[in-house]
Amino acid sequence: MRKIILQSLIFAVTLAASPNVFAQEANYDESKVPAYTLPEVLVTQSGQKVSTVKDWETKRRPEILALFSEHVYGKTPTKKLPIRFEVTDLDENALGGKATRKQIRGYFTADKSKYMDILLYLPNAENNPSAARPVPVFVGLNFAGNQTTHADPAIRLTQSWVRNREDAGITGNKGSDESRGKLAKRWPVEQILARGYGVATVFCGDIQPDRPDNYGEGVLPLFYEKGQTKPADDEWQTIGAWAWGLSRAMDYLETDKDVNSKQVAVVGHSRLGKASLWAGAQDERFALVISNDSGEGGAAITRREYGEQIERINTALPYWFSGNYKKYNGREADLPVDYHELIALIAPRPVYVASASEDQWADPKGEYLGAYHAGPAYALYGKPTLSSDTPPGLEVPIGQKTWTGYHVRNGKHDILLYDWTQFMNFADFHFRQK
Ligand code: GCU
Repeated sequence: MRKIILQSLIFAVTLAASPNVFAQEANYDESKVPAYTLPEVLVTQSGQKVSTVKDWETKRRPEILALFSEHVYGKTPTKKLPIRFEVTDLDENALGGKATRKQIRGYFTADKSKYMDILLYLPNAENNPSAARPVPVFVGLNFAGNQTTHADPAIRLTQSWVRNREDAGITGNKGSDESRGKLAKRWPVEQILARGYGVATVFCGDIQPDRPDNYGEGVLPLFYEKGQTKPADDEWQTIGAWAWGLSRAMDYLETDKDVNSKQVAVVGHSRLGKASLWAGAQDERFALVISNDSGEGGAAITRREYGEQIERINTALPYWFSGNYKKYNGREADLPVDYHELIALIAPRPVYVASASEDQWADPKGEYLGAYHAGPAYALYGKPTLSSDTPPGLEVPIGQKTWTGYHVRNGKHDILLYDWTQFMNFADFHFRQK
């Protein structure tokens, strides 16, 4: 009882100390968005103006990257794990002959107790000249197991813990036959293959389970110092681990002669879109980066008080971002970075941001502005980007032939064929036409 009282007291004090009330209703009224000032992409912390690629690459970019590591996602460990990849399945006649399917297990530990499974489909070249190997590939994490991304019965069921979800046929926190293909609408594999792209996916839970108090599981403990049981305040947590996992998938893709590893696009939806942006920011091997409905902690400007805000995400999902990020609960203006700078870190590599009209929680306008305000970093390289600070109308993709593309799909928080079609158009320009 005393403990409970004490806890409530601490909670009340915390509330009183923060200018925003924890339980605040999210703002969805554009006229109520207070004015804000963004940190400038091309001005260093010490106020120095950056006007050359050299100063950007040697001073400002590393500075912004360090700020995101320290204050937002937490530091990614520099220690390298000796990961072993084994191709466990190869079918050159998959999906009725349209594809080559490979499944690759990447072992994180020598005792093989921890691993991730990569599912890779490559288009077969028959009747499809754009499928000549090596092919460009989209790589992204999935929410509920590789087997949910396509009904192909040969896909290995994940053995990792899965969050229960009805739409994915997951109960008992386990991957099952029932879940096969349940989220296939998010992975239009056949359409991707038909356009000459390969597609690779990994279950995010193979890397780090998506649940609170996961500190003793997944890959996090593989990097602890002796006696450590959870990440320190400036160390990575779940989103950082997922981004790291994407880079490990890239390690494999670089070894596969059927894959054009110079043309790998990293893609992610929602929480996994936050991870794809963070992976793309840190790992310059990703040639193109796609964020779909990534919202708060992803593409959306956090200083815009609209939809989800820092305090809410840190409270509902305290295991995603670093301990340090909690210091910015209700204090967006004090964060030394904002998310346009996350996108700027990717320059001069192209970035595509997508929103959905009914996904106001993710703040579509804020996501657009995240991409728009990254522009100055691209300008240093002479690369054109979105030219207006006003988002386009519904399903009017823009910037498809520049270095920052954007669309807002009509409908709900999701990643669908419409979104993928725009991603492929954008990739066509950068990988094929330019
Ligand atoms: C929650 C969370 C979002 C996140 C989303 C998702 O809504 O608040 O930040 O993007 O889940 O991953 O679907």
